Amino acid sequence: MDQSRIRNFCIIAHIDHGKSTLADRLLEATGTLTSREMQAQVLDSMDLERERGITIKSHAIRMPYTAPDGEKYVLNLIDTPGHVDFTYEVSRALNACEGAILVVDAAQGIEAQTISNLYLAIGQDLEIIPVLNKVDLPSAQPELVAQSITDLIGGDPDDVLHVSAKTGVGVDKVLERIVERVPPPTGDPKAPLQALIFDSTFDTYRGSVVYVRVKEGTLRKGDAIEFMATHARYNAEEIGHLKLKMAPVQELGPGEVGYVIGSVKDVADTRVGDTVTHQRRGASEQLPGYRDVKPMVFSGIYPTDSNDFEDLRAALEKLQLNDAALTYEPETSAALGFGFRVGFLGMLHMEVVQERLDREFGLDIVTTMPNVRYTVELTDDNHTEVENPSDMPDPGSIKEIREPYVKAEIITPTEYVGALMGLCQDRRGTYVTQEYLTTDRVNLKYELPLAEIVFDFYDKLKSLSRGYASFDYEFIEERASKLVKLDVMLNGDTVDALSTIVHREKAYDMGRKLSQKLRELIPRQLFDVAIQAALGNKVIARETVKALRKDVTAKCYGGDISRKRKLLEKQKEGKKRMKQVGAVEVPQEAFLAVLSME
Ligand code: GTP
Repeated sequence: MDQSRIRNFCIIAHIDHGKSTLADRLLEATGTLTSREMQAQVLDSMDLERERGITIKSHAIRMPYTAPDGEKYVLNLIDTPGHVDFTYEVSRALNACEGAILVVDAAQGIEAQTISNLYLAIGQDLEIIPVLNKVDLPSAQPELVAQSITDLIGGDPDDVLHVSAKTGVGVDKVLERIVERVPPPTGDPKAPLQALIFDSTFDTYRGSVVYVRVKEGTLRKGDAIEFMATHARYNAEEIGHLKLKMAPVQELGPGEVGYVIGSVKDVADTRVGDTVTHQRRGASEQLPGYRDVKPMVFSGIYPTDSNDFEDLRAALEKLQLNDAALTYEPETSAALGFGFRVGFLGMLHMEVVQERLDREFGLDIVTTMPNVRYTVELTDDNHTEVENPSDMPDPGSIKEIREPYVKAEIITPTEYVGALMGLCQDRRGTYVTQEYLTTDRVNLKYELPLAEIVFDFYDKLKSLSRGYASFDYEFIEERASKLVKLDVMLNGDTVDALSTIVHREKAYDMGRKLSQKLRELIPRQLFDVAIQAALGNKVIARETVKALRKDVTAKCYGGDISRKRKLLEKQKEGKKRMKQVGAVEVPQEAFLAVLSME
């Protein structure tokens, strides 16, 4: 295929600025899909994604396009996820493109993920096409927002396209602009094959379906191929274009985007970011882009019913097939039994996985407080990594504990700056700088310990700013902090799953609040339950849940059987998410108590 007729691009935007809606309009406008065929937002294929309105997995679609001058083009739209947790997925998708449409909501203006995604795109040398979306909204301020975009990326504000993905206004102009501005791919069809894997999915019958962007050389059906990072060898049994359905072809030349199927049964062989080449006369070097993704946030996941352990393992295995960033390892907790320590990219990733376990696999799970990974320098000059607070070595053997720090950007209307600075200060943040984006919007920069934002930072930020502030973060480095392990005991027994790592100066306050919260959350039982928070052997807070005879039917007068049954059922329901810890029944919420503390 003639490379000068190909345009590979992606759409980047802050969440809810209209990326998926614009993608739908482009599919319609190019006739890739008629509106009758169109289900709202076809690109968001997972149920959960649709509900949350977040595009989690990258997808790609090929659109035929005839320009106003009659010339025919092929536009490959590579969809990218917009949330900070998925930065890695964004950058690998960007790697497959030459241009990026930067969508900014004309009413909301530039938000935190607008900037972080923009930087990623600029980092990949992509041609940026700024687009103002939602110009149909009465609250749109296109001139102002266009100005702030060009302040950021340069250029003329009059050049910024005005679009309504809702009504379709301006969508044609977007297509024209793509052809005009996005450079066609370059690549030598005769060079050794280098094709970038930017995504993969797993099909039970056909094995891994690998999505590639050919950079150099030509991939033909039946070719003997090798995945360079893993050295795994297969035959390209089927290759094709990514239309609404997969469309087999005989060859993919440089600049083309498509899929490869090779009966790959072991998904670990097909890593996103890896390079596909030929077994004979293959490329000597991999394309840049391959990186092992490191989970940043960890949490214990345990089946409520210990008989479900193997089902939970099978479910995690399945999820990992399409989510290489997810890691898990079996662990045992004295309190919760057999389960897994699961690693996530961030909080949203964690929520999504938890919900999928519940919804798609029907598993009843108990999750523990999320925590970050700590590096502990020991007095014997060894060091160890701690992903579970209860594994923290004895304080006597610790020389230093290091924790991950992030660089955070908070974009907010000026009136909330004070409150948000207070929040950052409270979360052990270090002020870096602030920049005005417009006269009434500020980009506030802080360095913060990651552990302080995995709790409830985002919710606090939203409530302090009435929903107006947005936030994004990026890992910078590990730094030494004065951290201690805070334990919780129920009737004298330490509950390992409730241990947390906290800053020494916050430990007392935290211990007190945590035990108070647990007192509220743990239901009354047939005996007193003593809740204690402790640093080492030292108890720093204590609360008691008073005993109660748990006879819910006592409330019923007379013999109204149906009402009685209802109550019993309700009680059974309530029990579902309980976990027996020693003699004490502890509800799921208790393991996340820190999250709901004031
Ligand atoms: P994520 O997938 O979560 O990143 O969101 P997105 O950027 O894909 O946003 P999406 O397309 O889901 O749009 C968010 C909301 O804005 C939806 O309710 C859309 O209907 C609405 N929307 C999108 N474009 C327009 C527009 O041009 N005008 C108006 N009024 N609403 C729009």
